[in-house]
Amino acid sequence: MSAVDLIIKKRNGKALSTGEIQAFVDGVSDDSWPDYQISAMLMAMFLKGLDTRETSDLTLAMASSGVQLDLSAVPGTKVDKHSTGGVADTTTLIAIPLVAACGVPVVKMSGRGLGFTGGTIDKLESIPGFQTAITAEQAIAQSVRIGCAIMGQTENLTPADKKLYALRDVTGTIDSIPLIAASIMSKKIAAGADAIVLDVKCGSGAFMPDLASARALAHQMVDIGEHVGRKVIAVLSGMEQPLGNLIGNSLEVLEAIDVLQGRTTGDLLDVALTLGSEMLQLGGLAKSDSDARQLLKVTLASGAAVEKFKELIAAQGGDPQVVDEPSRLPQATLRRTVVSTHNGWLAAMQTQDLGRALILLGGGREHKGDALDLSSGLILHKRLSQAVQAGEVLVELLGNNADKLEQAVTLVTAALVISPEKPVFAGGLDKPPVIYEIYRGQS
Ligand code: URA
Repeated sequence: MSAVDLIIKKRNGKALSTGEIQAFVDGVSDDSWPDYQISAMLMAMFLKGLDTRETSDLTLAMASSGVQLDLSAVPGTKVDKHSTGGVADTTTLIAIPLVAACGVPVVKMSGRGLGFTGGTIDKLESIPGFQTAITAEQAIAQSVRIGCAIMGQTENLTPADKKLYALRDVTGTIDSIPLIAASIMSKKIAAGADAIVLDVKCGSGAFMPDLASARALAHQMVDIGEHVGRKVIAVLSGMEQPLGNLIGNSLEVLEAIDVLQGRTTGDLLDVALTLGSEMLQLGGLAKSDSDARQLLKVTLASGAAVEKFKELIAAQGGDPQVVDEPSRLPQATLRRTVVSTHNGWLAAMQTQDLGRALILLGGGREHKGDALDLSSGLILHKRLSQAVQAGEVLVELLGNNADKLEQAVTLVTAALVISPEKPVFAGGLDKPPVIYEIYRGQS
């Protein structure tokens, strides 16, 4: 069947056969399908969905669209992690050096920002000199040497996902359970780890707005992992507000450093510790959650995790001095604030719009391949359920373009709800849940 026939078949709501899905992925990988036909197919898949068999076929076809890593040269159980995406979700920059400092080796392939969510590769590129375009061989050798490496998607690792990811980012086709599941699991399968911890986000700053859809995504990914013989578990975590208080590429590196140095605690650290605990248990370094947390906390307090982050930066050509002198990170020149007009409580946030404000400021992409302003961002001064006074600063915005800052201020102002009553969240809690549940699969 021709490309257009396959697009029409999916547009009409029919299931594509294994061979037809392979033909689509081949067309993406060998450039025989132009971007407009790929985009049309993505939109048809987004609107009509994929069943479990099609999703599994898409995952496996994408995983084998390039080379698959053999991590056998790295000693020990290799454990990977991946987030489905959020705002100020900087856990990778904390969890990877932390678990590596504890002794679990990680070779991690990360992505760029997607839609209103940030990406680890963009964040790391705000560190002067940091090379994310390292080869798989370099990443493996580095992991043998220092215990961890974080690489971008190279041309030969899941090239089909690399292209589809960039097109989904700019064609309104991101928040689809089968497309996200196939994108994430293809990368994780190709990256070769023995075990994988997924962080599936739900809430106003995630692609899955509610627990039911996050659960469906989590189950689908864990089941795909089991199907190919990898141990996969999914942590379902909340994203009703940004996970950290700093949003933006260099700002998120700064907050990760603060957490690794023990200066910042809160939701970001809590999720990083939960993911870290699961990684240590899967890696065989701890028998229980409490043993794992004990090891993580001792390692953080000893300074070994922040030293490992410096080692990681230096190994990938970056300037490790940023850890002790954060002014070496890119700095924005302009600043504006959003202040509360009345007394009350911060009751809700359109968290996606805080991510969109970052895009307006140049910290995320509007078009495929856009260069980023790595210094721009937002600083949250209040979190949900905190009391606010009229005139108090809620959010600070940093950027380099006065018009864009003005537009971002308008967007952020409309995204925040101040209520005269103290809010109550799911389950009668006075704060939105940070960890909902952990899905460990059927076996
Ligand atoms: N992260 C990915 O790698 N892919 C998606 O589709 C969403 C989040």
